[in-house]
Amino acid sequence: MDGTVVRIFNLRKSFGRVEALRGISFEVARGEIFGVVGPNGAGKTTLLRIVAGLMKPSSGEVEVLGHKVPSEVDRIRKYVSYLPEEANLYSKLSGIENLKLYAMAYVEREKIDEVVRVGISIAGLDLRDLERRVEAYSKGMSRRVAVAATLMVKPRLAILDEPTAGLDVVSARYVREVIRRFTREFGTTVILSSHNMFEVSRVCDRVALIHSGRVVAVDGVDRILSSVGAEDLEEAFVKIVGGRGG
Ligand SMILES: Nc1ncnc2c1ncn2[C@@H]1O[C@H](COP(=O)(O)OP(=O)(O)OP(=O)(O)O)[C@@H](O)[C@H]1O
Ligand SMILES: [Mg+2]
Repeated sequence: MDGTVVRIFNLRKSFGRVEALRGISFEVARGEIFGVVGPNGAGKTTLLRIVAGLMKPSSGEVEVLGHKVPSEVDRIRKYVSYLPEEANLYSKLSGIENLKLYAMAYVEREKIDEVVRVGISIAGLDLRDLERRVEAYSKGMSRRVAVAATLMVKPRLAILDEPTAGLDVVSARYVREVIRRFTREFGTTVILSSHNMFEVSRVCDRVALIHSGRVVAVDGVDRILSSVGAEDLEEAFVKIVGGRGG
């Protein structure tokens, strides 16, 4: 395998008459933090679910770690982790038990405790809280545990759908920092989605701006800004999509 972790070519997905993805192409290199950015309904979740092998495309090609998705997804399951848009922890279990359960899908039994310890440090929550049932958690606490679970297993590729959704500024900042720190440390490649232009400017090495199921720009944030003469990504997005229909 070369240095390309995700390769997407002319990807399309329709739901009945709704064309959610209309010919998406881009590549993500090993070690990159790649952002998929666009407004509500742009197609971010659909794209990430397809890359994770959870949804079939209507047409086009997706390759992850050199394997075709979804047909060969079983070969890469252990190397790819996915954070859904809605955190899906087990509410009757504690945070730590949730981390354990997640770890079991990825590592041998004797490595589980070690992985969970990493998860605890990534979550950055009080140990006493992590020992309580998740049903008592705030949305932000659950999100931090879910993000920790996806990163602690040291995946080759982490797919994070709106990792900071519902978090206050302090928690969002914390999660952005752990994404950067631990993925560098573990050599993890990241593809994350966000509609927060500020956020992706801070976290991502490169971004794809998505509008109505199409990539309208893909590059480093600074290069996108200078190419259209914009101060920030939000202005760039408006300049690029201005005048375009849906
Ligand atoms: N399971 C589905 N059935 C029918 N239509 C769907 C389905 N999933 C997504 N869509 C449609 O596809 C389009 C893209 O949706 P998607 O959830 O991928 O957007 P998004 O960029 O993740 O938006 P948000 O920022 O709100 O999370 C929307 O028009 C949505 O209504
Ligand atoms: Mg979404």
